[in-house]
Order: sequence, then structure tokens, then C-alpha cells
Amino acid sequence: MAALRLLSVWTLLLTVTVCDGWLFDGFAARRHSESDEVALWPLPQKFQTSVDAFRLSSASFQIVHAKESTAGPSCSLLQNAFRRYYSYIFGNGRKHGKNLENVFDADLAELQVQITSADPECDGYPSLKSDESYQLEVNQPTAVLKAASVWGALRGLETFSQLVYEDDYGGQNINKTSISDFPRFAHRGILLDSSRHYLPLKVILANLEAMAMNKFNVFHWHIVDDQSFPFQSRTFPDLSHKGAYHPYTHVYTPADVKMVIEFARMRGIRVLAEFDSPGHTFSWGKGQTGLLTPCFSGSSPSGTFGPVNPILNSTYDFMTRFFKEVSTVFPDAYIHLGGDEVDFSCWKSNPDIQKFMDQQGFGQDYRKLESYYIQRLLDIVSTTNKGYMVWQEVFDNGVKLKADTQIHVWKEKPPYQDEMARITAAGFQTLLSSPWYLNRISYGQDWLGIYKADPQNFNGTAEQKKLVIGGEACLWGEYVDATNLTPRLWPRASAVGERLWSDENVKDVGSAYDRLVKHRCRMVRRGIPAEPLYIGFCPHEYSGN
Ligand SMILES: *[C@@H]1O[C@H](CO)[C@@H](O)[C@H](O)[C@H]1NC(C)=O
Ligand SMILES: *[C@@H]1O[C@H](CO)[C@@H](O)[C@H](O)[C@H]1NC(C)=O
Ligand SMILES: *[C@@H]1O[C@H](CO)[C@@H](O)[C@H](O)[C@H]1NC(C)=O
Repeated sequence: MAALRLLSVWTLLLTVTVCDGWLFDGFAARRHSESDEVALWPLPQKFQTSVDAFRLSSASFQIVHAKESTAGPSCSLLQNAFRRYYSYIFGNGRKHGKNLENVFDADLAELQVQITSADPECDGYPSLKSDESYQLEVNQPTAVLKAASVWGALRGLETFSQLVYEDDYGGQNINKTSISDFPRFAHRGILLDSSRHYLPLKVILANLEAMAMNKFNVFHWHIVDDQSFPFQSRTFPDLSHKGAYHPYTHVYTPADVKMVIEFARMRGIRVLAEFDSPGHTFSWGKGQTGLLTPCFSGSSPSGTFGPVNPILNSTYDFMTRFFKEVSTVFPDAYIHLGGDEVDFSCWKSNPDIQKFMDQQGFGQDYRKLESYYIQRLLDIVSTTNKGYMVWQEVFDNGVKLKADTQIHVWKEKPPYQDEMARITAAGFQTLLSSPWYLNRISYGQDWLGIYKADPQNFNGTAEQKKLVIGGEACLWGEYVDATNLTPRLWPRASAVGERLWSDENVKDVGSAYDRLVKHRCRMVRRGIPAEPLYIGFCPHEYSGN
């Protein structure tokens, strides 16, 4: 009925526009691209859509709690999301088309959101075990979104907003649709590096927003590194006071960190903090005298410093107090402890380290010294009741790891497929980043290679494949700051987003290209300056607001 009505409206319009002549003065392409099919990204697991179209009126359409829902107006996470998605759908202060208002009798009055489990988790934090599945039925007179918890509702709201399309007259429409959706992997992350360049809060928050648009659920915050220490510690204020690029303007205060965590939580995103050691710690040494290994030139100190000094008790005393604080600041159940790229040359130069190596019977194997350090660090972090994640070297070097350790694969050689096979054969959970170093750029459509990589593409048993928890797109910060971060990351990271959310058989790059072009325009329209995939245009160009 609705479809028929719509068809006649279309015929009428077409006649009118051809008579007016403006269909031919360059508007044709615009017409086509605006009223084309909706572009869902990432593609839901199961969905059915039809040509029955309903109109959404910005004056009367509402997103509301279903009567049966276990969550209500006191659930600020959902209240907030309802407002956010209403404004994504109708824009900020944009008028909806008036001309056709009365010819649509098929209005969609509201979207009812129903949380079904006894605990909707309104005030909780998302975790690796969160249920993000949802069901969405768009039909007259109401659409219904069902999810066990708020986490699934957030994903479903995003999908609902993506189903809405604008007709040529500025009206918002949605077709009759049925969707049942859930993520393929539980860990879908983005790594941002706030050490090589300080990232203003505004940029971090904008990217959390973009992550939610792509159904990512982990913000891996590589917060400190050699170059700077912007994390403000209450226990050791000198770390940022002396180790940040600037002690007041280039730091994340406890209030800043809290804001990032809450903003992320409202979007179903975990904040996984990384404090990488014993390498990548040069900036730590500025505010914590005695923490780093003094390097020697011949028989005297050269005045430079290497990795964390693994032979001093003071090192472990410091780490105990520091990680005690970190574990209370970041509510996530996991901490990323790094452990990558330890340069042994400074340790080799230092006579005290030599003596310690002899005492311990390590010979000249510095990997054993590294393992000694990591082992003690892991024991310390274990006492905070956090799980930990480490870069692959920690596994490669044979450090004894707790069974629930998650191992992060980043190297390209040996091939990551072999590494994933080895890690899972040893029974550990793993996640992949090797093919997703988005800081590496090249001319052309490099999203294709990003899109084709698959974390379960290695030789292993079904049991092994189950140990793959997902992956992360990494944007290392050597050549990235607030000026170029967002366009460099999006929509290239969207390719990772679909790989980690959608069914493994969603691989058609032609369909992906068409949808991604539109999804990118949608991000642009929502204020995310995502770069173009190729030649073309968006119906609404970026206004740089
Ligand atoms: C939605 O309905 C319109 C109008 O009937 C139709 O042109 C369009 O192809 C439909 N979109 C989808 C995705 O089915
Ligand atoms: C370091 O700690 C160990 C174990 O707690 C202890 O045996 C050793 O004497 C300490 N060393 C120093 C120099 O205090
Ligand atoms: C799996 O093993 C086969 C046979 O050894 C090999 O040809 C293939 O390249 C391997 N696949 C991957 C993804 O490593």
C-alpha cells in the first residue's frame, strides 16, 4: 500500500521536474546519489528490507523506552543515545521537507527500545563479554529495537540511524526492515598514540564518536612512550610534569581521563590503557630518577639512558605503586603492558647489569633479562586483579604468562598467520594488528588490502580459531597530530570495522566500495572529516564545523 502510494508520488514528481527542466542541468547525478539505497556499515549479520517506505517527521518522531523494557528514563546512557541519534537523523536545526508531508500517510511514529535482561547495565562498563547483539524491526506504526543490554541497543541505534535516508526534498524516510545482528569478534579496537604527538581531547572524543559509527568497542590508548608522558599521575606527578611536552597544556589530567572514559562508556567503548615497558620509556626517566638503565661508554656512564633498569628493587617498588594507581584510574578489566622492541645495547654496556646477568646465570641472553623483568611486572599487575595484554615479543621470548593473557600480534615477519597459529596452539587468546597499521599510507585504494585481511586466516583447528578475540587498527603518531589524524584514520579504519563485525563471508569489494563511499559521506555529514576513497562527491559536503 505504502509502496504503491510512493510510486505514484514519484511519477508525479518526475513529470513535474522534467517540465521544469532542472532535471537536466546537472541535478540528475545529485538526485541519483541522494535517494539511492541505504548503505549499512558494517553490514549486519542478517537483514531483510523491502520497498515499503515510511516517512519520519522531525516534529513527531520519537525514540522511546518500550513499556516492557528493563531500562527507563533513569538510564542516562540510553537517554543520551536517544538524543544523539535523533540529531544524527534530523541534523542540527535542519528542516525536513514540507512539500510532501501530507501525501505520506505511512508515517513511522517512533522507535521503541526494549532492553530484555534483568540488568540493563546502564551504569556498567562494557567488557570483552558484553552482549552487543540486537534485533530491529522497522514496521508500522512503530519500529522496535530489542537488545539484552544497553550495549546491543547502542549498536542497534546506530544501525537504525543508517537505515534512514533523505529524499530529494529533504524528508527523512525509512523502509520496512528486519535485522538480527551481532558481532563476529568481541574485541574491535582502534589504537591512538598520544605520545609522539599530544592529541587534544577534542580529537580523541571525535574519534570515539567515529568509532561508535563503525561499531568499534575498544579504544586502545597508547598514552605514553619515549617521546612524551602526558598522563598525569597523582602518585608521581613529576612523570608528566617533566616528561610531557608541556607540563600544563600537553597533559591529560585525572579529570580529562575520566571524561574520555565516560564519553567512551556512553558509546559502548572500553578504554584500554597501554603503559609500555621496559622499552619505549625514555620520557618516564625525566620525572623518575633512577628508573632507567644508565648506558655506559667504555667504563664510564655516557649520560644517556636505556630501557627500565630491571635489576633494582626500586624499579619494582615504583611499578607497584604506579600500576596500583593506573588500575584504579582505568576501570577496564585489562591493561596493555606493551613489552615490544626492547633495545639491548644499553643493558649490554652497563657493568652492573653484566654482574646481575652472571649471578642469575643468564649468560649473554638478554631476552632472559627482559623476561625476568616482564615476569616480575606481570606479578605486580596481577595483584591489582587486572588481566593483561602484551605485544607478541613477550610470548616469543618465552615469558611465563597467566592463562588469560591476551597476545597482540603486530609484526609482519614472521608472517602473522604463523604467529597466530603458534599463539593459539599454545592456548592463548590473541588479537591481530599486523595488516592494520593505518599510519602506513600509500597512493591509491589501500583500504582494499585492509579489508581483505582476516584474523582467522591461519592454519589451525576450530578450537584455535576461537581463541582469536578480534583485532585493532593502529594509528601510530610519528606523522600524525590533530591536523591530520581523523582523515588519515577514516574511512580506512571502517574497513577493519566491517571485517571485525560482519560475517566472515562478507567479502565482496564491489558492494563494500559502494557502501563505504556512502558511509564515508555519512561520517562527513556528521562532522567527521573522513577522507574520500576516490573521485566523486558527497550530497552534503564537509562544512568543517
Ligand atoms: C526503499 O524504498 C524505496 C521506495 O519504495 C525504494 O526505491 C528503495 O529501493 C528501497 N530501499 C531499499 C534498500 O530497499
Ligand atoms: C631486593 O629484594 C630482594 C627480594 O625482596 C632482597 O632479597 C634483596 O636483598 C633486595 N636487594 C636490595 C639491594 O635491597
Ligand atoms: C596453510 O598450510 C598450507 C599447507 O602447508 C599452506 O600452503 C598455506 O599457505 C597455509 N595457509 C596459511 C594462511 O598460512
